[in-house]
Amino acid sequence: MGYFETYKVFFLVYILSLSSSSSLNVKDKSYTSAFKAEQVIFSSGNNITKLLVPSDGTSYFLEDISDLPSIFFTVTDSKLSGGSCIYVLEDLAAYEILEGGRDSTSDYSSDRSVYFGAKDGVYKYDAESLSAKKFGPFRDDIIQIQKANGSDIIYYLTSNKKLFKLENNGTVRTRVSAVTCAQEFVLDTSNNIYFTSCDDGLPRIVKSDGNLVTYTASVTDDIKEVQLLRPAFIMENCVPIFGDGNLYMLYVNGTNEKKDFFIKDRPSAYSIDAALYIVAALNGKIYEFNIMEVMLKSLFGFASHSSTDLSKIIMSIIETAKDSIYKDWHPVLEN
Ligand SMILES: *[C@@H]1O[C@H](CO)[C@@H](O)[C@H](O)[C@H]1NC(C)=O
Ligand SMILES: *[C@@H]1O[C@H](CO)[C@@H](O)[C@H](O)[C@H]1NC(C)=O
Ligand SMILES: *[C@@H]1O[C@H](CO)[C@@H](O)[C@H](O)[C@H]1NC(C)=O
Ligand SMILES: *[C@@H]1O[C@H](CO)[C@@H](O)[C@H](O)[C@H]1NC(C)=O
Repeated sequence: MGYFETYKVFFLVYILSLSSSSSLNVKDKSYTSAFKAEQVIFSSGNNITKLLVPSDGTSYFLEDISDLPSIFFTVTDSKLSGGSCIYVLEDLAAYEILEGGRDSTSDYSSDRSVYFGAKDGVYKYDAESLSAKKFGPFRDDIIQIQKANGSDIIYYLTSNKKLFKLENNGTVRTRVSAVTCAQEFVLDTSNNIYFTSCDDGLPRIVKSDGNLVTYTASVTDDIKEVQLLRPAFIMENCVPIFGDGNLYMLYVNGTNEKKDFFIKDRPSAYSIDAALYIVAALNGKIYEFNIMEVMLKSLFGFASHSSTDLSKIIMSIIETAKDSIYKDWHPVLEN
């Protein structure tokens, strides 16, 4: 494993446990939750099942840290039509976008379009009017949606557990036959499909060329509960998964690697897409983990012990990054 891959993994481990040094080590006797009251940015009496911080792959490093990105989230409420509603959080104010909406998606490119899967098909976000407009003619009952990166293809999972591919501006729909029945799915940054099978709840992989990689559940055969995470834009050909609270990296070749990281809380949703600004939902609350802010504070000398360690890790990522994603930070870091 090269430096970059190593640090990408460290990075994930750290961001999921930010500000909680004692929860980093599974061997610690006492477990301190990474979810602290001061990180709550939204509270609801209902469950939050999906979160999205759109990532365009670069610019969250450059924007003013006091500008919070838009955060899309789904709240379940059995009293609503379709059982849920999508909201957008802008500067800590929540705006209702789509009743019956179930999930939000955007890709990792500079195309900032956001799409929603709803009880009656796909919708596209209109930021000007803070509303959703129907996208394409199909009216499937959608429970999960993912935009492919760098193309107009959108994948979605229906309530009867079938996966569909939507293309040509929402007008052409085909069933992904390699996925017979899926509980949930995510795409990696190269548009490979990772899904949990209805048979055993364990992950399977369909490569972007359409071939099914049957996942042999070596380390994971005693796992009862698997949660797939959409990867941060810096991760290649892999997705992070939680298996009974343990973190694993699942690679597109079907192998997995267990990481020394355990999370006792079971968040109902995450978005790590943007890498330096991540959010997670637990018991109806959205928590923010603003890595960039911590990094800046530590650079300018206000660091606590744990955030100093964090910034070392992040600087290492920046120094070893093989592409130029982080180049704009070098002048700041060298001062
Ligand atoms: C939230 O989800 C949990 C677990 O699925 C469920 O037990 C609980 O009743 C839900 N709460 C609300 C307010 O819907
Ligand atoms: C996503 O697609 C864009 C446009 O094709 C490309 O520039 C970018 O590198 C891709 N991002 C990732 C994480 O692969
Ligand atoms: C996609 O469809 C919309 C609505 O029918 C239309 O306004 C738009 O021009 C189409 N875009 C392309 C690229 O075909
Ligand atoms: C699978 O991919 C991972 C990550 O690229 C690599 O470390 C591992 O050696 C590969 N395993 C096989 C059997 O190809």
